Amino acid sequence: MLSKKITVMKLFDVYPLNNITVVKAKGSYIWDENGLQYLDLYGGHAVISIGHTHPHYVQRVTEQLNKLGFYSNSVKLPIQEELATKLGKISGRETYQLFLCNSGAEANENALKLASFHTGRKKIVAFTKSFHGRTSLAVAVTDNPAIVAPVNQTPNVIFLPFNDEASLEACFRAQGNEIAAVIVEGIQGVGGINVARESFLQKIRSLCTEHGSVFIADSVQCGYGRTGKFFSHDYANVDADIYSMAKGMGNGFPVAGILIAPHLHSKHGMLGTTFGGNPLACAAALAVLEVIESEKLMDNAKRIGDHIQSELKSIPELQNVRGKGLMIGFDVPESLKDLRKNLLFNQNIFTGEAKPNVIRLLPSLALNKKDVDQFLESIREEIHAPALNQ
Ligand SMILES: Cc1ncc(COP(=O)(O)O)c(C=O)c1O
Repeated sequence: MLSKKITVMKLFDVYPLNNITVVKAKGSYIWDENGLQYLDLYGGHAVISIGHTHPHYVQRVTEQLNKLGFYSNSVKLPIQEELATKLGKISGRETYQLFLCNSGAEANENALKLASFHTGRKKIVAFTKSFHGRTSLAVAVTDNPAIVAPVNQTPNVIFLPFNDEASLEACFRAQGNEIAAVIVEGIQGVGGINVARESFLQKIRSLCTEHGSVFIADSVQCGYGRTGKFFSHDYANVDADIYSMAKGMGNGFPVAGILIAPHLHSKHGMLGTTFGGNPLACAAALAVLEVIESEKLMDNAKRIGDHIQSELKSIPELQNVRGKGLMIGFDVPESLKDLRKNLLFNQNIFTGEAKPNVIRLLPSLALNKKDVDQFLESIREEIHAPALNQ
C-alpha cells in the first residue's frame, strides 16, 4: 500500500514571535501555559485599554452574544446609536457623525477616501516616521517603503518632515488647492513616540481651513483616553475634521471607526462594511467607554503616566523620556540594547519597542502605582545588572 504523506497547514510566517504562549489574562497581568505571571505594559500593542477580561466588559459582551451576535447594516441596530451618543459625549464631539468599521487601517482608509470624495482632490500630505496601517491608501501614507507593495505606490502622497511648520506652509502655498487631506498622529507610535508639537497641529488646522483640505487626526494608537485627554490632538486645542479610532476602542474586540465633522456629508453607498458596527463590537465598545468613565481612567492615565515619566527621567542611563499619559517612550543606549528582552525574560514584564532603540510603554489605562513601582524597581535592577556582572 502506498503511504500517504501527511501535511499540516502552516501559518504564514509574518511575525517574529516571542517564545511565550499566553493562555490567560486579568487586569494588567497575563499568564503563560506554565502558570508564569507577566506584568503587561504593552497591552498587545496598545489595545488593552480598560484591563484584560474586565468583569463589566465580559458581562456586556456575553449578554449581547446571548441576545444577538450579528446582523448587517441593512437593518436598524439601536446599539450603534447608543455607542455614537456615548462616544460623542465622552470625546466632546457630539456634533460629529460616526462611521464604524473593524481596524485602524480600515478607519484611515475610509477617512482618506471620504476626504477625497468631499474635496474632489487627490493629494494627501503625510509625515516622516508616520504609520497609518497596511491597506492600500493607509500604507501609501505610511513612511516605510519596506511595507509598501508596488501596487500601493502612488504619486498622490506628499511626505513632509514631522513637526516642520515651514515646509508645511511651503507645500500649501505651492499646491494647497490640490490637497484633499493632511493625516497626522498626535503622537507617532510605531515611529517611536514622537509628540506632535501643539503649534504644528494648530498650523495644520489653519492651513486646512484656509485651503478647504480635510484634517485627519489618526488617533488609532494615541487616542481613546490613553494620553489623559480623549484624543491626544486635544492638547493643541484644535478640532480635526476626522478622527480615526481603533485599538483601545474594543479592549481587544476588533472594532474601529471614524468621527466625522458635520460639514462632511454622506451619500448612500459612499462607504460601507459587512462587519463594521455589528452588535457584539458595539457592546464591547460601549463597555470600554462605560469603564473609562466610571473608573475615571483618563485621569488615571495622566496621573500614573506623569509619575512613570518623572521616575524614568531620574534614571541617567535612559535618554529622551517622552510621551503623554500612558503612551511613553525612551531611548536605550547601545550598552543596554538587550534591556527590553531582559525585562521580558528576567523580570516577566512585557514592553513594546520601536526601531532602532526605543522602548514603548502602552499599558492598560487602569495601571496602578504598585505595578509601576514593580516596573521601576525591575528596570533599575536590569540596568545595573551588567555592571554587577562585570
Ligand atoms: C497610528 C496607527 N494608525 C493605524 C494603525 C493600523 O491599525 P490596524 O493594525 O488596526 O489596522 C496603527 C497600528 O499600529 C497605528 O499605530
